[in-house]
Amino acid sequence: MRSTKHNQMQVGIEALGMYVPRYYLPLRDLAAARGVAPGKFLQGLGQEEMGVPPPDEDVVTMAANAAREALAVVDTDSIDTLMFATESGIDQSKAAAIYVHHLLQLPKYCKSFEIKQACCGSTAALQMALAIVAQRPERKVLIVASDVARYGFNTPGEPTQGAGAVAMVISATPRILALEPEWGAYTEDVMDFWRPNYLDEAVVDGKYSIKVYLKALAESWTQYVAESGRTLAQHDRCCYHLPFTRMAHKAHQHLSKLAGGDPADVTLLADSLQYNRRIGNSYTASLYVGLLSLLETAATDLAGQRLGLFSYGSGCMAAFFSGVVMKGYRKHLQPDRASVDLDTRHRLTVELYEAFYRHELPRDGRRYRTPVNETGNFRLSGVEGHKRLYESCAPVARLVPETPRAPVRRVGGGYCIA
Ligand code: COA
Repeated sequence: MRSTKHNQMQVGIEALGMYVPRYYLPLRDLAAARGVAPGKFLQGLGQEEMGVPPPDEDVVTMAANAAREALAVVDTDSIDTLMFATESGIDQSKAAAIYVHHLLQLPKYCKSFEIKQACCGSTAALQMALAIVAQRPERKVLIVASDVARYGFNTPGEPTQGAGAVAMVISATPRILALEPEWGAYTEDVMDFWRPNYLDEAVVDGKYSIKVYLKALAESWTQYVAESGRTLAQHDRCCYHLPFTRMAHKAHQHLSKLAGGDPADVTLLADSLQYNRRIGNSYTASLYVGLLSLLETAATDLAGQRLGLFSYGSGCMAAFFSGVVMKGYRKHLQPDRASVDLDTRHRLTVELYEAFYRHELPRDGRRYRTPVNETGNFRLSGVEGHKRLYESCAPVARLVPETPRAPVRRVGGGYCIA
């Protein structure tokens, strides 16, 4: 087993949770609707399906659902801080973390706030969490990363949309991944992707963003090597930020060339790409969706293996860091997640996907109730007086319906499974 070089104390990920919307669109259907060869989305971008949130789901409900899973085995009284990373936030002032704090009834002394730096905000939160726990090892930090990736209809980014949330409990008892202290980071002022306050969809120069991603990877890797003295060969697997899964191939090939070792073996990335291929981009969550995918789907026991992790946030900030998988980690994960959470989602038609995305909450303060769709244990029930209203709902039956991929049809103001 590799040593974590973490002095006496190990700090890292104790628990993980994930939540994805209960609806998805096959990219083959989107390709047909947009008149594009399906190979472009399926092979060229490496995406198969995209998660689509219904109108009564947002970053808060997804985060609360993911956190509920992560906290199932953690004493919530030990949670000292809740950090909410998102780039599709719902308020310019009040942190989405406070809604989650309320929905999960976390202790009143738990600090709760939001963090932003595009898709890298979750990793910035992680580094802060490590510092908090190193200083007060009896405390734990809950990080939620939750996003809805929206580029707009008929844009090059449309097939890379998606949605989802990951929650991580960071503590001095890391039962899943012990994080190592060496980090390489990189910041540069670039305009590859941004979203002004008055827009619902991001402005993106996609081709340029790929170039900057690869440059930031090289720069943060170089700094990580200077700190750690490690070679790429000393990392058994790598997980990359995944705007679309082919990006991981590009990144791994780029890094292997730079590191000057063996040619890149992209087959080793396959386990980390399985979930994202079916969820799409989840911005701040996407690196950690990839990590969960690797840990939950790898056929071999990864205990003792060192993972290299690369986080990229447009604008831009990036980080390369590493962790060592803990013995017994599988007991704390959900190896049947794909069949329980992904295979049971409901297939949307392109028309309904567009209807979900076109849905807007009123902006004039009037009372409005959102149509009821299938969600997790929390839903956005409506708005009133410019306030978002959330409610807990009965746990969704983990259904394996007789027609598991039945299309959804519109019923009155809502939607239901056909
Ligand atoms: N069969 C198989 N592959 C095909 C194909 C087909 N019929 N048609 C095209 N392709 C391949 C292309 O060769 C290309 O592969 P390559 O990158 O290895 O050259 C890939 O599919 C994408 O095609 P491309 O023409 O480059 O797509 P695009 O111009 O429509 O946009 C993005 C691609 C990623 C720039 C766009 O989806 C985007 O802007 N996404 C959002 C931003 C983003 O994700 N940035 C990443 C860094 S954060």
